[in-house]
Amino acid sequence: MGLIAIAADKGAPGVTTVAVSLAAVWPRRAIVAELDPFGGDIAFRLRGPRGVPLSPETGMLSLGLAARRGADPQQVFEHVQRLDGGLEVLLGLSSSDQGAGMGTLWEPIAQLLDRVPDIDVIGDCGRLYHGAPTLDVCREATAVVLVVRPTIDSVAHLRSRAAMLASHLRSGAVGTGGTPLFVVVVTGARDDRSPKEIQHVLGTAQVPATVIGRIAHDPRGAGMLEGEWIGRLDRSLLIRSARAVAARLARVTSVQAAV
Ligand SMILES: Nc1ncnc2c1ncn2[C@@H]1O[C@H](COP(=O)(O)OP(=O)(O)OP(=O)(O)O)[C@@H](O)[C@H]1O
Ligand SMILES: [Mg+2]
Repeated sequence: MGLIAIAADKGAPGVTTVAVSLAAVWPRRAIVAELDPFGGDIAFRLRGPRGVPLSPETGMLSLGLAARRGADPQQVFEHVQRLDGGLEVLLGLSSSDQGAGMGTLWEPIAQLLDRVPDIDVIGDCGRLYHGAPTLDVCREATAVVLVVRPTIDSVAHLRSRAAMLASHLRSGAVGTGGTPLFVVVVTGARDDRSPKEIQHVLGTAQVPATVIGRIAHDPRGAGMLEGEWIGRLDRSLLIRSARAVAARLARVTSVQAAV
């Protein structure tokens, strides 16, 4: 079905947390793919069934080798591991050195991930910057979602990154088949104004990006996704907010994938 690329500009606004949360509650079968060129975090944060550590060799590293020989989308499953709780994950590289070693493989890997049969892939693309290999990943995706915190500096960086990305992806250009660009805001429970204000900022700058919702700023919930088992994750504010965003994104991307 489709690759949904999650990314951000400066800072660490919670891209990995948003990607894992969305994949965990996605209304269709989904895997989370760690595509951050600086390396993945999930192997350090979460475990496989019965607490067994995940294998660092199975994931982007092994898929990269397969893609070099010419793989088909069905083969992506051979590189996927299951977390305790059932979520399927394509583990990321272990360092930025490995990321650089991927060379030109990012684009064919993104093409594979966008075409895995009967499954959506939620890709954690980390931070975007000039020349980032993940810009190629975003261009192959069914949709791109930028994560932002509601601070003046973050929104200013979002605005310029989204403007650059929208032209790179040809987002919003009618009839060009461009990739749609969305924004998710990580906000506190009582902050329901930020998404509208950020949409206004983007609209004023004529950036064709749609704020699709908010993810709760929830240190307890985020802590559980980092391996601190301190409560029921499914009842956390984080996961409850992710359900609403996932439902909306899954709806728009299924229409997009069918086009
Ligand atoms: N929704 C959230 N509520 C509270 N804390 C959060 C949330 N999302 C992320 N955090 C915290 O922020 C920190 C960074 O989170 P995360 O690893 O998801 O960010 P990232 O953008 O992927 O960062 P990096 O660029 O380093 O990969 C972590 O300590 C995490 O617990
Ligand atoms: Mg991350």
